[in-house]
Amino acid sequence: MGTVSLEEANSATDYPARMQDVSSPDETSPNFDPGLFDTIVNLCKRRGFVFPSAEIYGGIRSTYDYGPLGALMLRNVRDAWWRAIVQERDDVAPIEAAILTNPKVWEASGHLATFTDPLVDCRNCKERWRADQIEGTCPNCGSKDLTEARPFNLMFKTHVGPVEDGASVAYLRPETAQGMFVNFLNVMTTMRLRPPFGIAQIGRSFRNEITPGNFVFRTREFEQMEMEFFVPPSESATWFSYWCSERMDWYKRYGIPDDRLRLRHHETEELSHYSSATADVEFAFPWGWGELEGIANRTDFDLRAHTEHSGVRLEYFDQASGDRYVPHVIEPAAGATRAMMAFLVAAYAEDEVAGEKRSVLKLHPRIAPYQVGVLPLSKKDTLSPLAHKVLTMCRARFMCEFDDTQSIGRRYRRQDEIGTPYCVTIDFESLEDDAVTVRDRDTTGQVRVPISSLLGELDRRIDALSS
Ligand code: GAP
Repeated sequence: MGTVSLEEANSATDYPARMQDVSSPDETSPNFDPGLFDTIVNLCKRRGFVFPSAEIYGGIRSTYDYGPLGALMLRNVRDAWWRAIVQERDDVAPIEAAILTNPKVWEASGHLATFTDPLVDCRNCKERWRADQIEGTCPNCGSKDLTEARPFNLMFKTHVGPVEDGASVAYLRPETAQGMFVNFLNVMTTMRLRPPFGIAQIGRSFRNEITPGNFVFRTREFEQMEMEFFVPPSESATWFSYWCSERMDWYKRYGIPDDRLRLRHHETEELSHYSSATADVEFAFPWGWGELEGIANRTDFDLRAHTEHSGVRLEYFDQASGDRYVPHVIEPAAGATRAMMAFLVAAYAEDEVAGEKRSVLKLHPRIAPYQVGVLPLSKKDTLSPLAHKVLTMCRARFMCEFDDTQSIGRRYRRQDEIGTPYCVTIDFESLEDDAVTVRDRDTTGQVRVPISSLLGELDRRIDALSS
């Protein structure tokens, strides 16, 4: 597969996304680079990271399936978040709440009344747009003959059970957050927690976006990684700052360079109805700055709203001291699919190895789809048993790809392009000295390592990059 033809680019599948499809391009942003955007989108399809959904049927606009490498990478993004938020802490408990829930949840949260975008129709070409994104002119035909803006609710509506009437209406969740608020008491009691503590979850959310776009940046089905951190009200400002800096560090730890990341504090007029302070972690995408995560001080808004609507008091009570209060909530809310795209963009590089051009994804080893490529120098039967022994050993600890086709140079190029940080090569000498060659993706440096210490060597290298 080569580069993308214009026909393909403009096909009904809306794939791959082109700079023309990008909403709000900002030529002044530090890494504005339409070519890079096309290159990443192209690589994602060519190497099996992201496919248009149901491509054989012409796809469905701005909806994507994650291919083998995308599924592996997305899982690694989730795992990296989980490690930092749940595994490495003793004050955060995980849950997995239902996607379909009682519609009263969305009444209490304010989503039914206010989770809307302003929608306008172009009377000339009949396209529909978000009024706040088009400055009074239809981007499709240039007409200024637009309808008045009207609120469009972004929640997907469905019916639960076989009867489609008002009583069976339900919604696909537009955020995972509410599942944490409605389980506040259950989690606090069963886990014997007291504020400050958090509840975290990762899962799919759905929003009927009027103008999805920018490839997987804005889609109607996406994945969130959210945590609600419940704190004594007097400590909320301190915890807000704490989580802003923790979350910035997380992106840097996994390979986003400093100069492509910023924390943007919202002005008062920009704050959501539930928030007293919000800061966005933003990444310099090839089309401009884009939000990766919002960190909000949601005050006691949600627990009070659910108390009012459910009649159940959602508060903390300390029996020993008689202390009773409604905790405030600090919420770091990230998008897994957006983070994956940022990691891909930040990792992409082109350089020269031995006079030959290569493209390489310098992904963090814990984010890369495969950690290890196992490459026997020859397909010959004499090497095969040892190569499979090494593969089995590595597989017990790492995600590995085995490849014994083509020349070793081409195999290295393939692993470089999909971001595999280490290649282990088994050659005829390995049969004599019980050692293999470990090649580093970024430096292309090679060292000979005894098979008996191979896992330790790979662990040591990955750990050195993970602290
Ligand atoms: N509970 C708060 C909340 O949902 P949000 O800023 O609307 O806040 C949090 O969403 C994160 O979810 C965003 O920063 C973004 O990474 C991701 N996200 C939101 N809408 C998205 C969409 N349509 N496509 C992909 N990711 C999205």
